[in-house]
Amino acid sequence: MRRPLVAGNWKMHGSRAENTRLIEELLRGDEGVGPEVVVCPPFVYLWEVSRQIRDSSIVLGAQDVCAEAQGAYTGEVSAAMLRDVGCRYVIVGHSERRHLYQEDDQAVARKFVAVQREGLVPILCVGETLAERERGATEDVVGRQLEAVLALAGVAAFSQAVVAYEPVWAIGTGKNASAEQAQAVHAFVRSRIAAKDAILAASLRVLYGGSVKAANAAEIFAQADVDGGLIGGASLKGEEFRRICQAVAG
Ligand code: 13P
Repeated sequence: MRRPLVAGNWKMHGSRAENTRLIEELLRGDEGVGPEVVVCPPFVYLWEVSRQIRDSSIVLGAQDVCAEAQGAYTGEVSAAMLRDVGCRYVIVGHSERRHLYQEDDQAVARKFVAVQREGLVPILCVGETLAERERGATEDVVGRQLEAVLALAGVAAFSQAVVAYEPVWAIGTGKNASAEQAQAVHAFVRSRIAAKDAILAASLRVLYGGSVKAANAAEIFAQADVDGGLIGGASLKGEEFRRICQAVAG
């Protein structure tokens, strides 16, 4: 009922030549079955990658967006521009944006709304830091991050959205959440949405992100409330990323 989704967040990696090689590797394994597969290159490569995947089942996503529709916002990229170059998904509230660029919950909520206004699908990232987990505040933090978006966008907006649980302590550290830890937070996310709309919550896709590799993907993806993954480092290796996608299918 929920089609699994695996998204590769390339972060600030790649070049035209490297991207072309990576896409070629992914296309070799593209059978159009299994999970929905999304790649999220840096802004400047979106158009070229969009052309390269155009006849495949791979879908394009962006890593960030400006909350404003247009105007004097030097250096920013609007949701309409992302739609114009072929994006279908947009990551909002990635922890690197929240922590390195001081995006607060309200800024993330505004980006979520801006993405949907253009008919695109936000991938809303939530997750706690190590200090927050250690003091038992995981549900408070994730709940607060969700609540900011619920307050601005309303629960119905989640019918056209994806949530990604990315514990900050697991991102790029090689330390992934255990399957049980992931399942517990995913169930919490779903229950928060279900409290407002149970039917919608049952169809909401909740992805896990944080040091997912081919070796640990199957166990995490097998959890009842895990509907795929948001993959950083391992999405830069074609064969590894394909195996992660297969882990969700199997
Ligand atoms: P890693 O898979 O490199 O830990 O990154 C996860 C992530 O931040 C995906 O958005």
